[in-house]
Amino acid sequence: MLSARAIYREIREDDRTFQLFISVAAAGEEQGGWENVRIAELTRDEELSQKVRRHGDDEHKHGRLFAALLRKRQLEGIEVPPEVNYTMLLEEQGIGLSHVRLNEDRFLSDEEIIAYLVHSRVTEQRASEEVELQKRVFGDDPEIGRAIRMIADDEVNHLAYTHEELLRFCEKGHRARVQDMLAHYARVEVRTYRDVSLRVMRHMADCLGWSRPKFAVLAFGIHAIYAFERLWGWRRMTRLEAPVRRNAMGPRSHRPAMA
Ligand SMILES: [Fe+2]
Ligand SMILES: [Fe+2]
Repeated sequence: MLSARAIYREIREDDRTFQLFISVAAAGEEQGGWENVRIAELTRDEELSQKVRRHGDDEHKHGRLFAALLRKRQLEGIEVPPEVNYTMLLEEQGIGLSHVRLNEDRFLSDEEIIAYLVHSRVTEQRASEEVELQKRVFGDDPEIGRAIRMIADDEVNHLAYTHEELLRFCEKGHRARVQDMLAHYARVEVRTYRDVSLRVMRHMADCLGWSRPKFAVLAFGIHAIYAFERLWGWRRMTRLEAPVRRNAMGPRSHRPAMA
């Protein structure tokens, strides 16, 4: 049986697949860290800017946690192949704010802040679901369990904050724009996620010497998930509701204690 658990375990056991898996994860986190720190600098609203900054700091921390996992195993990070660079692929499709824009020194407009928040709403949903699954598989793992649990807890905060901030923009009269953008971004994301998943697993299958039928079963699973997400699942990324964790990216002293 080819379960997510069995696949993750196989990837974890082999040095080369572990190296690729962690390098891809670390690069995504570092990228998110850089973007958020830069967006914080370009955000005029001081309170929001501080939240974005904390979000960026968290993502950099995640990047460092992943890098430490590689070092523990005496492995180096490897360059992420462009075809599996999820964040860059989204950017190329006009999702979120571009590097060119972020390198300009002028404050972001409301429309751009909404684009940033919608991008975060959609990608943090994905991140929190993925790391939640990893937590179920590796939560008790002596080598990587602790880092995964910490990251999982942070991703819940990030997701909660995107709900809250987008709801604020909805209340200020931007609801239609927010909903339109959420629907568009979610559809692009599910397609990009499918493509990246297939390519990452192709690399993994090559490293692990999988047979063609074994890869075919996995690829079928990825296509099946996409079929579900394209028809229905994308909607989960577009819902906005007041989160259980309020003000999750507020100043530390105001943040609710985590369970
Ligand atoms: Fe993260
Ligand atoms: Fe995050």
